[in-house]
Formats: sequence, C-alpha cells, structure tokens
Amino acid sequence: MSGIILETRHMRMAFGGLVIFEGIDFALRRGERHAIIGPNGAGKTTFVNLVTGLLKPISGTIWLDGQDVTRQSPQQRVKSGLVRTFQINSLFKALNPLESVLLALLERDGRGRIAWQKVAAEKQQIDEAMALLARFGLAGDAYTLTDSLAYGKQRLLEIVLALALKPKVLLLDEPAAGLSTQQGHEVFSQLANLPGDTAILFIEHDMNLVFQYADIVSVFAAGSMVLQDSPENVRKSPRVREVYLGA
Ligand SMILES: Nc1ncnc2c1ncn2[C@@H]1O[C@H](COP(=O)(O)OP(=O)(O)OP(=O)(O)O)[C@@H](O)[C@H]1O
Ligand SMILES: [Mg+2]
Repeated sequence: MSGIILETRHMRMAFGGLVIFEGIDFALRRGERHAIIGPNGAGKTTFVNLVTGLLKPISGTIWLDGQDVTRQSPQQRVKSGLVRTFQINSLFKALNPLESVLLALLERDGRGRIAWQKVAAEKQQIDEAMALLARFGLAGDAYTLTDSLAYGKQRLLEIVLALALKPKVLLLDEPAAGLSTQQGHEVFSQLANLPGDTAILFIEHDMNLVFQYADIVSVFAAGSMVLQDSPENVRKSPRVREVYLGA
C-alpha cells in the first residue's frame, strides 16, 4: 500500500436517479503519470470533482496519502497536497502572472495575509515565481495583465498556479483543450519534467498525448472503470476499442 498516494474504495455516485459510478476502486501511485480516458459523459470530470471534494459520493471512501479525506473540504484537501488546476477567475484576471503566482506561493507558505507593499521585498519568492513562469514560457508575460493574455497562455498560467502549491497529486481536466497541437505537447513535456514524486492524474481526449506521456491509463465508460493498464495494452484492448477508440 505504501506506493499509493490516492485511492478510492467502492466509491458510488449518482445524480438523482442517474447512476454515474456503481462503485469505483481506483489507485494512483506516488509519482505516477496517469491518464483517464473514456467517451463523453463517462464520468471523468465527475470523478475528479469527487476526488477534490467539490462533489460528495453517495458511499465509499477516498484516501490521500493514507488518510481518509472523504469528509474533508476541498480546501483541506489542497492543504494535504491534492491540487487541481485553478480556473482563472476575476481576481487573477486583474493581476499579472507574477502577482498571481506570488499570491499562490504566499498562500502555500501560510503568509497569504502579508501586506502587498511588503511583497516587493520578497526576493526569494519573486525568484521562485519567475522560475516557475519561465519553465512554462511565461517569463516575458510576467507583467502583462492576465486578462489580456492569449487563451493558451492563460491555460499555462493555470498550471503554473497549481504547481506553485507544490502538489503531491496534480489533477488536470483536459489541460490541452483549446491549445494547438504544439502547445499541447509543450504543456505535457513540461509536466513530464516535474519532480518524479509528483503524481499527475489527467483527463485527456488526445490519444497521442495519452500514449506518449502516461505510464498508466484508466478507461472509464458507462459507470465503471473498464480497464486500468499500460498505454500499450490499452491501445491493443478490443474492449477499449469497442467502448471508446471506435475502431
Ligand atoms: N451536476 C450534475 N447534475 C446532473 N447530472 C450531471 C451533473 N454533472 C454531470 N452530470 C452527468 O453525469 C454524466 C457524467 O458527466 P461528466 O461531466 O463527468 O462526463 P465526462 O466523462 O467528463 O465527459 P466529457 O468527456 O464530455 O467531459 C453525464 O451524463 C452528465 O450529463
Ligand atoms: Mg469532462
């Protein structure tokens, strides 16, 4: 069990009479790069919402790093190291990327209430923020108002903000959606370079990205996890072709 960082046991979910999961047993290992694939409406986003605490399962438990977090709030789970990409909101749109990342770093270090005037003195934090932005090609945009950044760069900034929290588990719901093929590959090659102990669980429809960057793939369809296996075996599986890959 020691290698498992995130686990769901018999997790059942329904919206009214619509059963989404009969009882999902899922495990993510420390440092794993794990893709969730499946047809539209299979429950992929619902699964992520359950894991982060945005939704509550009807029954079953969710474990993070050996702790039962089923009844924890989303904020508590973030503090325990489970981080999903931020949605850029109005607050961040009115800031520039450097200010946004600094806020996230200060929040992470429990200093979210520090006065803004003092932030300028935070050389170490500013260096860390700039290094994170540079890693995703955003150093040149550090002082540009977020609202005026191109869509692709706003998506990259979402990932930078999540990484600023030093997650043990990073959850990404279609990080390449709306990006060009090249930008999608850039995002994933940066993710591949993250420290080896950061587990990444990502939902992705682009099979080239899935097969290139995932160590393991979970296939969701019609209320269950059909298969969890290596990319090669998933690609070869007749069952997966039937439910998803459409060949
Ligand atoms: N808040 C909700 N209330 C009722 N039904 C919902 C709700 N959220 C999702 N659903 C339904 O649950 C099912 C699973 O939806 P979900 O968004 O998790 O699928 P998905 O696998 O992420 O699909 P996609 O690939 O299109 O993003 C769908 O039938 C959807 O209509
Ligand atoms: Mg979805």
